[in-house]
Amino acid sequence: MSGQAKHEQVVFCSDERSGLYAIIAIYNTALGPALGGTRFYPYESEQAALADVLNLSRAMAYKNALAGLDLGGGKAVIIGDPDRDKNEAMLRAYGRFIHSLGGRYLTACDVGTYSEDMDLVARETPYVTGRTVAHGGAGDSSILTAFGVFQGMRAAAEHSFGTPSLRGRRVGVEGVGKVGHRLVDLLVEDGAEVVICDVSEQAVERVRQRHPQVEVVADQVELTGADIDVYAPCALGGALDDDTVLRLRATIVCGGANNQLAHPGVEKRLADRGILYAPDYVVNSGGVIQVADEIGGFDMDRARAKATKIYATTLKIFATAAEDGVPPAVAADRLAERRMSEVGRIRGIWLGR
Ligand SMILES: NC(=O)c1ccc[n+]([C@@H]2O[C@H](COP(=O)([O-])OP(=O)(O)OC[C@H]3O[C@@H](n4cnc5c(N)ncnc54)[C@H](O)[C@@H]3O)[C@@H](O)[C@H]2O)c1
Repeated sequence: MSGQAKHEQVVFCSDERSGLYAIIAIYNTALGPALGGTRFYPYESEQAALADVLNLSRAMAYKNALAGLDLGGGKAVIIGDPDRDKNEAMLRAYGRFIHSLGGRYLTACDVGTYSEDMDLVARETPYVTGRTVAHGGAGDSSILTAFGVFQGMRAAAEHSFGTPSLRGRRVGVEGVGKVGHRLVDLLVEDGAEVVICDVSEQAVERVRQRHPQVEVVADQVELTGADIDVYAPCALGGALDDDTVLRLRATIVCGGANNQLAHPGVEKRLADRGILYAPDYVVNSGGVIQVADEIGGFDMDRARAKATKIYATTLKIFATAAEDGVPPAVAADRLAERRMSEVGRIRGIWLGR
């Protein structure tokens, strides 16, 4: 597999009695130990799980680099149905495999895993973040994820409209789950007009109760075709495909979802249509900033201050993109690669014995 050659280490972990079958992928440790969450998902095959973990761990390296963290990129997957297969012995066995890597990989929550699961992993290894607040952890990372997306959106507004304020702008939020509903809170507070859609009636109702003025549309097609200034994908990946880009009337795309570009080339189509795309892994890095802060003892104010820098980073990406004549997604990759290479290089300085 082509992507595999670039990974430093890929570890397969199995404990038959508890039903654990996990793959841990470390893309690189140029900036420090590899940090990335554990996805618990019923993959159709081991091959599908491997492909996912290789992609996700690479993306974490870029995200951590641009978030200014001293952390490399890693990710893990546990193959199975979290509702049916998850159990204490499995998570603790998984913790022991993480421990065997000696701190080269630090885990956290992802799809299908929660802070309570990390508390169990933590009984076998210290190399875990995203534990519950009661156990000294950073808790729910969607708090700073939403805050960071908001900072990225303010930067995009500054770049496109000449002011970071979203007052009076119409913002369409697709998916009002953990991240999306918090983003709506921040937008309403800033004076934006918000339009939402979600496949979950319950999720829509929660927002409506807090903010009765929020408009609700049927689905993503209606939302992206609506008269909005900003489109914020906060549901699943792949929100931006060729059809969506053609339909979009927004000036800015900035949301919390991972892997928003359905395929390579979409970033150029967006740029060609004059739509400013704030790269997903840059603006949604508030969550990893939050859990990374747990490593030295969690402090929400310090973590929030770090996540505020997403504003400046996003502005820098837009400026670099304009200078280099490339879409912002390409500029972001280049800046991340530069930091990995330049800061990673100093490890070669001999420190003596
Ligand atoms: N939680 C975090 O800290 C974090 C960090 C970085 C990135 N992300 C990414 O942000 C996105 C949202 O994460 P979350 O934690 O809020 O998840 P979530 O499951 O709490 O929320 C997702 C919401 O999207 C809705 N949804 C699903 N399909 C939809 C569709 N087709 N149209 C409209 N709505 C739809 C769901 O009903 C749900 O309400 C994901 O892509 C996730 O990978 C989350």
